[in-house]
Amino acid sequence: MAESQEIHLKVPYYGPPIPPSQTPSRNCPKPPKCNFDAYSLLCTITKITTIFLITIGIIVLALWLIYQPQSIKIYAESAELSTFNISLVANESLLAYNLAVNFTFRNPNRKYSVYYERIKAQALYAGYQIGSIGYPPLRQGRKDSMPVMARFDGRTATEAAGTYNREKAEGFFYVRVKMYVTVRLKMIVIESVKFKPDVDCTLRIPAPGNSTSLAAGFVRTECDVNNFS
Ligand SMILES: *[C@@H]1O[C@H](CO)[C@@H](O)[C@H](O)[C@H]1NC(C)=O
Ligand SMILES: *[C@@H]1O[C@H](CO)[C@@H](O)[C@H](O)[C@H]1NC(C)=O
Ligand SMILES: *[C@@H]1O[C@H](CO)[C@@H](O)[C@H](O)[C@H]1NC(C)=O
Ligand SMILES: *[C@@H]1O[C@H](CO)[C@@H](O)[C@H](O)[C@H]1NC(C)=O
Repeated sequence: MAESQEIHLKVPYYGPPIPPSQTPSRNCPKPPKCNFDAYSLLCTITKITTIFLITIGIIVLALWLIYQPQSIKIYAESAELSTFNISLVANESLLAYNLAVNFTFRNPNRKYSVYYERIKAQALYAGYQIGSIGYPPLRQGRKDSMPVMARFDGRTATEAAGTYNREKAEGFFYVRVKMYVTVRLKMIVIESVKFKPDVDCTLRIPAPGNSTSLAAGFVRTECDVNNFS
């Protein structure tokens, strides 16, 4: 019944309006022929496909609700400043830096693997960006930890001399590393929408050349991961 009505609607009709009493079956005197034409077949395929997609959608939604994804975790395992000194060059205070950080990226999910589409890391000192690096896309399996290394090397103009002198005397420099990450989660063959968590790590790093601080060392630090899910 529903099928023949659709057929009826598709046929352009330029005549007088059909009275409501006229049932669509009139246009279709031979049901077998009507049922097997190309349009009906297409119609049936479309219906089956729609029902199939809706079913898959409901299953994915149910799985997603049952296995709520957990946020990735990021730790700074070690960090070293091999160069960190400030100098006045033509009235500009230039900060020369060489910072190496070893991170661990942890995917705590049993059901999802993680595809890191984009990772960009930025180092900041006293509010000034001192370096920025990008990574190629990375894949991470379920319940997995992987090392991710970062090195920021160069020199940049800052107004950070005040902070620098204070922290040098205290023996530790506070460097912030921010990461801009785009990830997708994947369960079997189904990929999630994109997540863009913001990662923020405040690293307390021994001042180079200060043996007391170097002996105390760097303490493993967990980074904040926001806006996940
Ligand atoms: C990071 O890890 C690599 C390989 O394990 C090591 O050679 C390097 O010294 C580490 N860097 C820091 C800053 O700990
Ligand atoms: C900064 O430190 C590096 C290595 O310790 C040194 O080679 C360089 O001359 C220093 N730069 C300034 C401006 O002091
Ligand atoms: C350095 O800065 C001072 C004041 O800020 C200015 O008078 C002077 O001309 C500057 N010197 C150079 C070389 O830019
Ligand atoms: C070295 O670091 C310690 C703290 O670890 C600090 O008390 C001391 O003043 C620092 N020494 C110098 C020469 O900056």
